[in-house]
Amino acid sequence: MSLFDALVKYGMPWVPKPIVSRVARRYVAGESIDDAVRTLREMNAEGAMGTVDVLGEEVRDRSKTERAVSQYLDLLSRIEAEGLDSNISIKPTMLGLKIDEDLCSDNVAVVVSRAAEFGNFVRIDMEDHTCTDATLRLFRRIHDAYPRSVGIVLQSYLHRTTADVADLLPLSPNIRMCKGIYREPRAIAWEDFETIRANFIYNIEKLLAEGAYVGIATHDPYLVWAGMTAVDRLQIDRDRYEFQMLLGVDPELRSIILSAGHRLRVYVPYGRDWYPYSMRRLRENPTIAHHVVRAMLIR
Ligand code: FDA
Repeated sequence: MSLFDALVKYGMPWVPKPIVSRVARRYVAGESIDDAVRTLREMNAEGAMGTVDVLGEEVRDRSKTERAVSQYLDLLSRIEAEGLDSNISIKPTMLGLKIDEDLCSDNVAVVVSRAAEFGNFVRIDMEDHTCTDATLRLFRRIHDAYPRSVGIVLQSYLHRTTADVADLLPLSPNIRMCKGIYREPRAIAWEDFETIRANFIYNIEKLLAEGAYVGIATHDPYLVWAGMTAVDRLQIDRDRYEFQMLLGVDPELRSIILSAGHRLRVYVPYGRDWYPYSMRRLRENPTIAHHVVRAMLIR
């Protein structure tokens, strides 16, 4: 990343919201469920599956968690009615994790039970380290009741991930492995790029070899290659893994993976609460300065 890109990256909180919105548009399907459905149709037409996230996090108000549950129930019904190839992704703090774990668990159970009725699936996203233990407890509770309808995410930047993989393996879990997006303290997270990659590869190989279903979630071509070679070497059936990418990031890599005959799922976020998600995506974009300056010039 150039010095200018780095300066813009750290200055992002001061960039006016309309500019952020313009630059971040590619990462978000839109504000309405219709926008999400339209994007899913496009992804399905490309041969990719979807996972839809209703944007929202860090909710502190019970009534907002009820609204989130009903948005997810509507979404599941819509996916079913339209015959779309998509599951859903949820953030525990949107469903009440920071208010009360039991409330969150009850909310997630309502969503997962509806997904199970439709033969669909719910991925529980992983947020920052203050949520990791509670999210794993939540996953275990819901998995006990709906073992085929729920999955979780692990982050290869966390030191604990290898131990979490070992603890979860007896459940034959469905796990999305990603690098991790939150800024975490050195005491708990690897910072070195190559170590995070190595930990990603070590853990996906372990999961694949020992019977888990694995979502290989990355846009890093080296890790995509590592995933492809691992499934080949371990002779993993096509229906035991999938690649996963975020909407708006590297569509060319998406078609490379699909053309090689692998299954691929695109994470499709939508909703009014787009700002925190978009800021995380923008900070990861290696050419962020170019996009921000361009958006400012064509105002
Ligand atoms: P890396 O960041 O090294 O990116 C590789 C290359 O991809 C870059 O060089 C660039 O070319 C391109 N790229 C990456 N991000 C870009 C961007 N925003 N704009 C443009 N180009 C970009 N994290 C988490 O903590 N909890 C979670 O639940 C999830 N869930 C999740 C689902 C899915 C489907 C994906 C793909 C990712 C997540 N993540 C996540 C995010 C993940 O942890 C990680 O931050 C990003 O995927 C970026 O890491 P990469 O492996 O892509 O590598």
